[in-house]
Amino acid sequence: MEGKEVLPRHVGLIMDGNGRWAKLRHMPRSYGHNAGMNRMIGLAEHAKARGVKYLTAYTLSTENLARPKEEVEGLYNLFRKYFKSNVKKLYKKGSAVKVIGDLSALPEDVAALLREGEENSPADAQFTLIFAINYGTRSEILRAVNLAVENGKKLCAEEFAKFLYTDGIPDPDFIIRTGGEKRLSNFLTFQAAYAELYFCDILFPDFSDAEFDAALDEFARRDRRFGNV
Ligand code: FPP
Repeated sequence: MEGKEVLPRHVGLIMDGNGRWAKLRHMPRSYGHNAGMNRMIGLAEHAKARGVKYLTAYTLSTENLARPKEEVEGLYNLFRKYFKSNVKKLYKKGSAVKVIGDLSALPEDVAALLREGEENSPADAQFTLIFAINYGTRSEILRAVNLAVENGKKLCAEEFAKFLYTDGIPDPDFIIRTGGEKRLSNFLTFQAAYAELYFCDILFPDFSDAEFDAALDEFARRDRRFGNV
């Protein structure tokens, strides 16, 4: 419709390039992840201001857990930092956080902080920031299938979706990946069946609000047909 802004309701964000960003500055990878965290916080604010309702940030994949211990520990420390302090600022602005992924493999204190972060979120939030942590769609689907088998009856697509971590969250309309690679890397591959994909070369810590706006402009220009004509 002319003059009407076409916005994705749910944006998925693959925040790639932190390591390279740090390397360019002769700094350790953890420096890049810290810069990535700060950029993610800014982007969440901006996405909310633009009218996006859900932003899912791929923060740690099931495969990332196999990275060197020091790097994974550094990411846990960022979760501790974020969920102890920054999350309260989000609540004050009427936003919620949610976590998707298998928290059982995380240190207990981190898993507890993440769960608290969800539980203390306002119920009537206008915006939800979703952290995908120890997340991968393959393990999500296997978990859902096993739960469905235990349930013991045939399911339709909607019933099956209730067994996914993303139960209650609308499918992403738009997935942005920074850092130059053109793949989804096990991120919401079931839910993204009809998502529009956007790839750019910018390393995540440099992915500005203006770059995000350019991505939204591109989304608005896409012709979404959902398999129809
Ligand atoms: C991929 O870039 C990025 C990650 C595996 C981690 C993303 C995590 C953050 C941005 C921190 C967010 C944390 C909070 C609590 C908000 P990469 O390191 O693989 O980049 P590279 O391809 O350049 O090596």
